[in-house]
Amino acid sequence: MDVRKNPLLVLCFILCFSLLTRLSFGGDTISGNQSLSGDQTIVSAGGNFVLGFFKPGNSSGSNYYLGIWYGKVSLQTEVWVANRNNPISDPSSAELKLLDGNLVLFNESRVIIWSTNLNSTISNSTIAVMNDTGNFFLRDASNESKILWQSFDHPTHTWLPGAKLGLDKRTNVTQLLTSWKNSANPAEGLFSLELDPNGTSQYFILWNKTRQYWTSGTWNGQIFSLVPEMRSNYLYNFSYVSNDEENYFTYSMYDPTILSRFIMDISGQIKQLTWLTSSQEWFLFWSQPREQCQVYAYCGAFGVCSGNSFPSCSCLYGFVEKSPNDWGLNDYSSGCERRTPLTCENNASSNGAKDKFLVFSSTVLPENPHEMSSETDAACKLACLNNCSCNAYAYSGGNCSIWTEGLLNLQQADDGDSSAHTIFIRLAASELPSKSNGKKIVIGVVVGSVAVILLLGLVFLEIRRRRRGSVVNAKIVEGSLMAFSHKDLQIVTKNFSEKLGGGGFGSVFKGTLPDSTVIAVKKLESISQGEKQFRTEVSTIGTVQHVNLVRLRGFCSEGTEKLLVYDYMPNGSLDTHLFHGKEGSNVLDWKTRFQIALGIARGLAYLHEKCRDCIIHCDIKPENILLDANFCPKVADFGLAKLVGRDFSRVLTTMRGTRGYLAPEWISGVAITAKADVYSYGMMLFELISGRRNTEQSEDGKVRFFPTWAASKLDTGEDIFTILDSKLEGNADVEEVRKIYGVACWCIQDDEIHRPTMSQVVQILEGLLEMNKPPTPRTLQIYVDTPEDIVFFTESSTSQSSRVQSHVSTTSQAKSNASASDKP
Ligand SMILES: *[C@@H]1O[C@H](CO)[C@@H](O)[C@H](O)[C@H]1NC(C)=O
Ligand SMILES: *[C@@H]1O[C@H](CO)[C@@H](O)[C@H](O)[C@H]1NC(C)=O
Ligand SMILES: *[C@@H]1O[C@H](CO)[C@@H](O)[C@H](O)[C@H]1NC(C)=O
Ligand SMILES: *[C@@H]1O[C@H](CO)[C@@H](O)[C@H](O)[C@H]1NC(C)=O
Ligand SMILES: *[C@@H]1O[C@H](CO)[C@@H](O)[C@H](O)[C@H]1NC(C)=O
Ligand SMILES: *[C@@H]1O[C@H](CO)[C@@H](O)[C@H](O)[C@H]1NC(C)=O
Ligand SMILES: *[C@@H]1O[C@H](CO)[C@@H](O)[C@H](O)[C@H]1NC(C)=O
Ligand SMILES: *[C@@H]1O[C@H](CO)[C@@H](O)[C@H](O)[C@H]1NC(C)=O
Ligand SMILES: *[C@@H]1O[C@H](CO)[C@@H](O)[C@H](O)[C@H]1NC(C)=O
Ligand SMILES: *[C@@H]1O[C@H](CO)[C@@H](O)[C@H](O)[C@H]1NC(C)=O
Ligand SMILES: *[C@@H]1O[C@H](CO)[C@@H](O)[C@H](O)[C@H]1NC(C)=O
Ligand SMILES: *[C@@H]1O[C@H](CO)[C@@H](O)[C@H](O)[C@H]1NC(C)=O
Repeated sequence: MDVRKNPLLVLCFILCFSLLTRLSFGGDTISGNQSLSGDQTIVSAGGNFVLGFFKPGNSSGSNYYLGIWYGKVSLQTEVWVANRNNPISDPSSAELKLLDGNLVLFNESRVIIWSTNLNSTISNSTIAVMNDTGNFFLRDASNESKILWQSFDHPTHTWLPGAKLGLDKRTNVTQLLTSWKNSANPAEGLFSLELDPNGTSQYFILWNKTRQYWTSGTWNGQIFSLVPEMRSNYLYNFSYVSNDEENYFTYSMYDPTILSRFIMDISGQIKQLTWLTSSQEWFLFWSQPREQCQVYAYCGAFGVCSGNSFPSCSCLYGFVEKSPNDWGLNDYSSGCERRTPLTCENNASSNGAKDKFLVFSSTVLPENPHEMSSETDAACKLACLNNCSCNAYAYSGGNCSIWTEGLLNLQQADDGDSSAHTIFIRLAASELPSKSNGKKIVIGVVVGSVAVILLLGLVFLEIRRRRRGSVVNAKIVEGSLMAFSHKDLQIVTKNFSEKLGGGGFGSVFKGTLPDSTVIAVKKLESISQGEKQFRTEVSTIGTVQHVNLVRLRGFCSEGTEKLLVYDYMPNGSLDTHLFHGKEGSNVLDWKTRFQIALGIARGLAYLHEKCRDCIIHCDIKPENILLDANFCPKVADFGLAKLVGRDFSRVLTTMRGTRGYLAPEWISGVAITAKADVYSYGMMLFELISGRRNTEQSEDGKVRFFPTWAASKLDTGEDIFTILDSKLEGNADVEEVRKIYGVACWCIQDDEIHRPTMSQVVQILEGLLEMNKPPTPRTLQIYVDTPEDIVFFTESSTSQSSRVQSHVSTTSQAKSNASASDKP
């Protein structure tokens, strides 16, 4: 749903929003004997930020806090809290005022619960101002530049543009971001982000202010070594300052109307969010650490983390949530406790009352084991049994580990995960059925209530695996898809020896099935999804079949190994023919190029409009267009962006080096639609015409951006053939070249509503639809200095773009579904 297209919705947002904002009493300033209480607020001059009393999120409690929130965002979003650890229950009798030069907050019983705590010598002459940057500061009333205190120096969980996050070397004070305790309580939580107190340029995320579980790596002047995406780009200007007095990072937005914030989230991750005006929501740019389960002790003691499910935490079998309320608010740190206490005291007093052990398979061994040497597994087990505080043991090759405290960081291992550790969890005898007298009790992988189902599933899988023959005996499952075992694929690809290429999602290898069918096997990298979701996605992709789309034949999913099996395309990818082809016979002739353009358009139109779920490809470029034996184009890699996760950073990382094809909305953070593919398609058409990359460094070191260059040539009345690939030696249909050039120009319009849909493109190329002369796109990307540093280059807009008419006029009314919103 696009809000912009619905005036009623917009009106509703404005109304709802104006109901949310409360009456403000005195502009953006508190001075003299003014005070703030109850519903009163002060609002920054431009209306960006509001200071007042608030009740957090969905909190049902009656706690109020003094804080700052966005003034122009329809979801209440706090950026700063004064009294985060000392709530107020009745804001109407609380008071914020200036007292002897300091800002102080009185609670209902006139006790000061928060203050700026300055040893101010200029009492009675300060004022407090809510600034449009989100900074609330106290300054000398008669000297604007004498700032005595500012909220930017005391951040809570949010880092706003313009604020510093660093270390004051004079006082050894670091500015920390500390997470909220949970979504309803801004009190200090367990997770914090800070600059290395030892003075290096890396950030740490700490648990309980002590245990570090993530680092950004050091800043090399442009990027953090371990988080390359946290850097200056079109949107952000990051800078690191290090001098004798302080070390800090700060950032600013090139376009101050884009609202952006970093937060230390209750999930233990640092998140970067941007406000999407179109859909009225916060859009997650990226988060770190990427995996929820990498957050230290996230699920608390005896909690089990599983990044692929929601919520990520569950309790070990035999344990229950210690504080269900906190769990309900996404704060799992309290962990789990035993449902039945251990019967340790009964030590050997009666048969069958002894504690028993549950086998659990975890990818990580819990922290703080007591190590001892032990001859056998049985001896290790006994060592645990004989220690009343022992909760678990693990035995491996003479090493016995026992745990006497809460088990932290347990992570459910996938079936068949070879790196998994086996750990034996001690449980009261009554928790486990006592079938096998005297023998070691092994109860599979049992977590929570899904235990039995999982167990049955495992048994079934195991039986199936044993029944399966040795070599390439894939079963047909998930519709028409074949499920291969990893071993099968190892055999048919000769142990992945013939590499065809490496795309953003993983490397591709050639293989031959026993029936001599040649296949391409793609080894996916870092799949973020669980088994079930993976199979669902894969079977969805499997149902997408079109002559211009590469056909998925099968897949393999064993533990973390995920592979996709495709038809093999003997003529490789389009880029090799366009850019690396030799002169002469290998040159793609114009007729073929036109058919390729049309075929790709048909494939994309199918993806966008004809499938059950619309699929946005997200990575259209010549490398992803494969050619079969007859040079019929097939779009590859569709559906993978979804498979790998919709996380923005993931997509951007994947597309490193693909920037020339990226639509501007990728950078501005607006929601992505199928029109982003249209943009990339347009960029590719230019390359089809010129036979060269759009962005190329010429001999004199200057960077030439083909679309701009072509537009300048054609505007001066030069022949269309001046922009044509010289390798074609002029052998092309003039009208077709014009058509492809026109479509390309329309496709790369800055505003997505001016771009045609893929089915309109098909109709234009088929001659069913006429198109108007395209305007020159205003915004063009050029590369400066290094290819890594790109800036938006806004050319003074041509007069054409201001009189954009409906860009497609329809010759065949019946076929037309041109949107009515094409007018400016
Ligand atoms: C503020 O204090 C001045 C005296 O310092 C007094 O005249 C004035 O009435 C007070 N204003 C309010 C709103 O209390
Ligand atoms: C508030 O409640 C709504 C609906 O009950 C829910 O969708 C939303 O996620 C909640 N927000 C927070 C911050 O918990
Ligand atoms: C005001 O704060 C003090 C100190 O924190 C506390 O003892 C008192 O109970 C608070 N008053 C109310 C009404 O909450
Ligand atoms: C304010 O003065 C007190 C006593 O003189 C001192 O202990 C404290 O550190 C000072 N605070 C600041 C912020 O300078
Ligand atoms: C500040 O003002 C209050 C009342 O207006 C007065 O009692 C106090 O003496 C003044 N303090 C100074 C340092 O002027
Ligand atoms: C207040 O905001 C303006 C921009 O709106 C900025 O230039 C100025 O530095 C800010 N002042 C403080 C103290 O943050
Ligand atoms: C205002 O304060 C600044 C910073 O403390 C100082 O440099 C400047 O001299 C002051 N100006 C006046 C007029 O007092
Ligand atoms: C800050 O820490 C450094 C090293 O840890 C130490 O040398 C220095 O004396 C400290 N400064 C203050 C003001 O505490
Ligand atoms: C800071 O340096 C000291 C000594 O060089 C080291 O012991 C300590 O672990 C370091 N702290 C961090 C947070 O790296
Ligand atoms: C965090 O550390 C403090 C001591 O620094 C300790 O008292 C507290 O129990 C710790 N919190 C948790 C959840 O372990
Ligand atoms: C980025 O920010 C730094 C520090 O705020 C400033 O010096 C620099 O000029 C900015 N760069 C650009 C390109 O705006
Ligand atoms: C349990 O029994 C063992 C011997 O079987 C003994 O060594 C140990 O001290 C007993 N522990 C307790 C807590 O009674």
